[in-house]
Amino acid sequence: MSTNWQEIIAAVDRALDGYLPPADTFPPDICRAVRYSVFAGGKRLRPLLVITTAGIFDVPLQHALPAACAIEMIHTYSLIHDDLPALDNDDYRRGLAANHKVFGEAMAILAGDALLTAAFETLSIEAPAYFPPNIVVALIQEISRAAGISGMIGGQVVDILSEGRSVQPDVLEYIHRHKTGALITCCVRCGARMGQAAPEQLQALTAYGEKVGLAFQIVDDILDIVGDEAVLGKKTGADASKKKVTYPAVYGLEKARAEANSLYKSALADLAPFGGAAAGLKELAGMLINRIK
Ligand code: IPE
Ligand code: IPE
Ligand code: MG
Ligand code: MG
Ligand code: MG
Repeated sequence: MSTNWQEIIAAVDRALDGYLPPADTFPPDICRAVRYSVFAGGKRLRPLLVITTAGIFDVPLQHALPAACAIEMIHTYSLIHDDLPALDNDDYRRGLAANHKVFGEAMAILAGDALLTAAFETLSIEAPAYFPPNIVVALIQEISRAAGISGMIGGQVVDILSEGRSVQPDVLEYIHRHKTGALITCCVRCGARMGQAAPEQLQALTAYGEKVGLAFQIVDDILDIVGDEAVLGKKTGADASKKKVTYPAVYGLEKARAEANSLYKSALADLAPFGGAAAGLKELAGMLINRIK
């Protein structure tokens, strides 16, 4: 039986609603700005990865929600900041006007900051109800490292610095593995940590996460060329207009597709030791690759 993803997404949305300050909390301007982007839609892939990985180790959904939601808060902050005029200067996100277009740049910067902070507030308040301190600390380490200079921020920095330049393949791979891959890998690692996975299990899941994470950004690059704006909820053609360093720009569409497919197949192979218990993770990787089919 395949997983009921919509039910899990509904549980994630309810938890996010409970963890974030109500919209009328003072000062309401920031609460509204934060909630606008968090509840604008979005595939919720990262929470699904956290919860599905934790499920391999029989961690109940309820217990996985604080980490799943913390990562979705950080991801949403990264999108708000990514769209700012100083970064990608995009006006649409998740099917709506970008945060800075509605609330102004100052409030969008602060909404991103607020979500980054709320992630760790949520983890530190909610996770200790279900996990001992050493696991909570491990989750904080995983998430802060993946979001920071050795993860997403590092990738975003090199992405911005590389605009309009021709870069070596290793720089392109660095950008993608860091700006997007790090947080996606972090999702499965957090699921494994909560489940007290054995070192070889953590290693196998990390390998899966790294491949899915890199494939995810390659697919995002491909969809910026061939995707449907109504489905994506964001403008296409944005990468070419900013001369972004992307897989299709460097290798062409066909090679980029082949690379995403080969990463997908290899990610499935990493799940072999888990047998049927990894069916959900296989399905999630399949949903990713189907976006370019
Ligand atoms: C968009 O991420 C930014 C990238 C890392 C490519 P998603 O495609 O997961 O965006 P949402 O969460 O569904 O809006
Ligand atoms: C974004 O990469 C990665 C982030 C950390 C937000 P992109 O700049 O390609 O994401 P989109 O295409 O704007 O969603
Ligand atoms: Mg960007
Ligand atoms: Mg962008
Ligand atoms: Mg993109």
